[in-house]
Amino acid sequence: MEPADKEKKQESKEEDKEEQKKIDPKKVLEMQLEGIKLDPEQKKMMEDADPTNSTEFREQTVKLLTQIKEDKGSKDYKVAKKMQSLTPLYDSHDFWDSQPVPKAYESYDEESLDKPIDEVKSVSDISKDPIPLPDGFYFENVDISEAAQANEVYTLLTKHYVEDDDNMFRFDYSIPFLQWALNPPGYKKEWLFGIRHVKTKQLYGFISGIPVHVNVRGKSMNMAEINFLCVHRAYRTKKMAAKLIREVTRRVNLHDIWQAIYTAGIVIPKPFSKTTYWHRSLNPKKLIDVRFSSLPQGMPKARYLKMLKLPKEPSTKGIKKMETHHVPQVHKLLHDYFKQTLQVYFEFTEEEVKHFFVPKDDGVLEAFVVEDP
Ligand SMILES: CC(C)(COP(=O)(O)OP(=O)(O)OC[C@H]1O[C@@H](n2cnc3c(N)ncnc32)[C@H](O)[C@@H]1OP(=O)(O)O)[C@@H](O)C(=O)NCCC(=O)NCCS
Repeated sequence: MEPADKEKKQESKEEDKEEQKKIDPKKVLEMQLEGIKLDPEQKKMMEDADPTNSTEFREQTVKLLTQIKEDKGSKDYKVAKKMQSLTPLYDSHDFWDSQPVPKAYESYDEESLDKPIDEVKSVSDISKDPIPLPDGFYFENVDISEAAQANEVYTLLTKHYVEDDDNMFRFDYSIPFLQWALNPPGYKKEWLFGIRHVKTKQLYGFISGIPVHVNVRGKSMNMAEINFLCVHRAYRTKKMAAKLIREVTRRVNLHDIWQAIYTAGIVIPKPFSKTTYWHRSLNPKKLIDVRFSSLPQGMPKARYLKMLKLPKEPSTKGIKKMETHHVPQVHKLLHDYFKQTLQVYFEFTEEEVKHFFVPKDDGVLEAFVVEDP
């Protein structure tokens, strides 16, 4: 082989390698649409979509998904469901598009997977001042261990926090529950705060962060776990949520922490995982009466109630309430199990296992262990 040919071959090998390293959003989209029979026009739209230009690719994908939804969604429940989870990944977002989160329509190197998305910053780059709020509002820390302040958060959340799709049910986390969730070992008082009105001092928004250790694909990291984001109904869609998120980010960054983990009931860019809530009905009759549950299709009520009836005694031998002396063993069991099975998991300390799992008399949680006799 001529040296020039050798060089060319080498170059194309390098290119292939480069190519392999890229995560191509078009291939991901093709995988997501697998099983849906596209008509010729839709196939052509798919072929024409150009993943090298993320803006165009996003627009092309939105058109394609809208077409599929209109064309097939009304006839096929599975397609409709799929479109429901896929379409939001390609929506444009005033706030989230400005944030260092992955976007479904961008291509990126496989190598960048375990690296920060954002430019690496240091604490000295972060403003010491809170982000500005509209006139009439201010941020204030909430001391959840203090009864009056805990009651304010409780009231905001019971009236305005997460509801089901039909607005029939809303979470009603008790004050002891909020104190347990928000004051774990090492909590930071300035990561629990809200937005108040200057005149009335009333709490109109709330967000919380707690420090957590998260293992991401073998790498142990300090992060914030963000939760209980809530804005009073009367102040929605005024960018208060975005302000709370930006402000908690600033406060977390000041601790030299640059990653956070959170869940959402809606699809925002871009989930790395999804989860399903599993309920074991304890009082199915009541749950059906209040329309929390519905009878499985074709099942008579009496049979359903009988099926879910609890036995008088536990069927698991050796099951008992978890106590403090179980902590080291539970800690090890959890850690080993997480490590073996999950790519992203909490690395609880023993102190955290004690806080999060040992039941107290306040009814916040129950935890059981099975002891080998
Ligand atoms: C979620 C909630 C705080 C949003 O408040 P809002 O005033 O409507 O939101 P804003 O207008 O200030 O900001 C909207 C931005 O927040 C984002 N957002 C909405 N819900 C979100 C969530 N659960 N997590 C993160 N961001 C969210 C929106 O995507 C939007 O950003 P975008 O324009 O980039 O898409 C409010 O609707 C609420 O309190 N809902 C009930 C409680 C709840 O669902 N909390 C979230 C629990 S996961």
